[in-house]
Amino acid sequence: MQSEHTITICLGSSCFARGNKEILAIVKKFVSEHHLEESVFFKGELCTGNCEKGPVLKIDEELHGNVDPDKVYDILGEYFNI
Ligand code: FES
Repeated sequence: MQSEHTITICLGSSCFARGNKEILAIVKKFVSEHHLEESVFFKGELCTGNCEKGPVLKIDEELHGNVDPDKVYDILGEYFNI
């Protein structure tokens, strides 16, 4: 079965150093806490050239830039209506 949603985190060195290391763990926790493993495909990607907006996180086709680790839960909660 195909996942309904895809969350893509940039694992490029710039985004990783600017917060995606923490954000990676937060997204994993969110998915697990809300039992979204079946409906959400969480993957990493290499630099897409958006470093100046980093750290970047994509939820389906929506690109979020300058993501503050403290706001990740709110961003995901809003998107998934949780
Ligand atoms: S390192 Fe993330 S967009 Fe370049």
